[in-house]
Amino acid sequence: MSWTLHRHAKGNPYLGLTTALHSESKEPHVVYRCLYANDLCQDWIRPQAMFEGVNERGERRFEPIARMRIVQPEEVATVLAFGFDAWGDGDDLTTFVARYDDNPNHLRGTRYLLETFDGEILCNLNTLRFQRGLMGIASVATAPHHRRQGWASLLLRAVMELLRLQEQGPMRFLLFSEVDPAIYRACGFRELPEGNQHFKPSIAMATGDFPLPSDEVRFVTRYF
Ligand SMILES: CC(C)(COP(=O)(O)OP(=O)(O)OC[C@H]1O[C@@H](n2cnc3c(N)ncnc32)[C@H](O)[C@@H]1OP(=O)(O)O)[C@@H](O)C(=O)NCCC(=O)NCCS
Repeated sequence: MSWTLHRHAKGNPYLGLTTALHSESKEPHVVYRCLYANDLCQDWIRPQAMFEGVNERGERRFEPIARMRIVQPEEVATVLAFGFDAWGDGDDLTTFVARYDDNPNHLRGTRYLLETFDGEILCNLNTLRFQRGLMGIASVATAPHHRRQGWASLLLRAVMELLRLQEQGPMRFLLFSEVDPAIYRACGFRELPEGNQHFKPSIAMATGDFPLPSDEVRFVTRYF
């Protein structure tokens, strides 16, 4: 399964969820989700012809920008290589990729990627389910020549919204930032208090309210 990400003519990003027929008119409709906080509602529906059409200024209402899907086993080496410059630690690329063969977070995680409509992979990240309502995000990495174009932020928002939708309930996300935390702040994360920082210089961050309840704190201490 894959999901198309769109940018509305006014600039906001959206995740296309599915198309459905109106039960009376049989007209196809697109169901889509805001990739930003919308106080009115996260999920919207509109006729497919309108969704794919142009506005009064002749601009496409929703421009398709990339496709999101789960990373396939044969793509793992490619997406792991995106983090080689940051996490290579002096190994050669083959050794670096092989290191993940016994990385517990890698083995039990589910990786998502963003790709162009020609199938070029832009970026990826790993997701870890800790318990109901609590997920970890790890190994966010963008192909070096596609960096600083907003891809990692977009994938992060899209994955978080997809997981929130699937959860059908409150969902907190945890991560450890090894870069300027601004990228994660913009996606709703905040730095956890000093007492939850066990892996400096990596900065433990989470969405939602603090302090973390005790059943969640243990995942911050055991993450790596
Ligand atoms: C960190 C990384 C994933 C960012 O990917 P990206 O696709 O370039 O990120 P985006 O374009 O969505 O960046 C959004 C914002 O994040 C911040 N940002 C991104 N890369 C940054 C960097 N290297 N240093 C500081 N801030 C950065 C900026 O605020 C940026 O906004 P701007 O371009 O308008 O200034 C990418 O540089 C990467 O793969 N690095 C190697 C692996 C790594 O370190 N991953 C992070 C693990 S926590």
